[in-house]
Amino acid sequence: MSIKRIGILTGGGDCPGLNPAIRAIVRKALSENISVVGVKNGWKGLIERNIVDLDLKSVSGILPKGGTILGTSRTNPYKKEGNAEKVKKNIRALKLEAFIAVGGDDTLGVAFKFYKEGIKIVGVPKTIDNDLSCTDFTFGFDTAVNIATEAIDRLHTTAESHHRIMVVEIMGRHAGWIATYAGIAGGADVILIPEVPVKMNDVCRMIKKRHERGKNFSIVVVAEGAKLEDYDLILKTKEKDSFGNVLLGGIGHVVGKELERQTGFETRVTVLGHIQRGGTPSAFDRVLATRFGVKAVELLLNGEFGKMVALKGNEIVGVPLEDVIGEIKSVDMKLYKIAKIFFG
Ligand code: F6P
Repeated sequence: MSIKRIGILTGGGDCPGLNPAIRAIVRKALSENISVVGVKNGWKGLIERNIVDLDLKSVSGILPKGGTILGTSRTNPYKKEGNAEKVKKNIRALKLEAFIAVGGDDTLGVAFKFYKEGIKIVGVPKTIDNDLSCTDFTFGFDTAVNIATEAIDRLHTTAESHHRIMVVEIMGRHAGWIATYAGIAGGADVILIPEVPVKMNDVCRMIKKRHERGKNFSIVVVAEGAKLEDYDLILKTKEKDSFGNVLLGGIGHVVGKELERQTGFETRVTVLGHIQRGGTPSAFDRVLATRFGVKAVELLLNGEFGKMVALKGNEIVGVPLEDVIGEIKSVDMKLYKIAKIFFG
């Protein structure tokens, strides 16, 4: 298919690997004589027609950089009357024959809506949370797991020295992938995730038992979206973003307080927060993002619109956006079962 000009944007929470993906899209497109327009700040940039031409120079040196040179936002153009029309009008005015949207469930959900309204669009999955369906991994996840694992390693030595319980709160809004991977890699004594609601009494009992068998420190990993029976979901604020997402955070402190109260062991809490999203991407994420970016351009060239690039085994394939949207990929319970062997 002959395409001469495309647009790209990055939407939703940033993550390590976005710049390698942008670079791969631009390099592959230019090698096919396709010019690339970068849209700034996610869907917001298409509403406001805030754009930048991307050439070889613009993507030079960005491979190891975290974040996104295009900027991002959590803007839902379908939220406010008239904005979706503005997006379509601007795509036409900018003469963008096809479009690549790099994002998570929210951004790709919007991409799918535009596809159904006639825009030639392809999606690229990204999120540190690794909770997008139809792909084995998203880029950003591996880097976040490495950061969280290093944090757990560091917490181990201070926990051991002070004979304390260390609670570490890890990101993961709907799914506990980072918590589970980093918890296994870092040797956590308990891992709490949204997929497996628990009673605080049971967690405390487990830690007490561990101390009874002679251990005088513990590491408790808590995903920010973990569910405690007898507690409401713990939120940072009551406000929601334009996709209806709540802002999580604070569960670590609730867990820490209750652990100290019930076990009597001194407890400290660390909230890793956005440290998990910042900084240079791991080699794995750079390679995955590069493969995704190249494949996205190939899908456009093949006329395979309405698809998302995905990792299946070791192959990069195209999957229908329709199958991806609205269905969160939860933690594999076979993996969580392995983690549980090491609890307590
Ligand atoms: O979706 C990625 C993520 O980092 C979640 O793990 C977290 O809940 C959320 O984004 C935080 O959002 P914000 O950057 O808007 O605070």
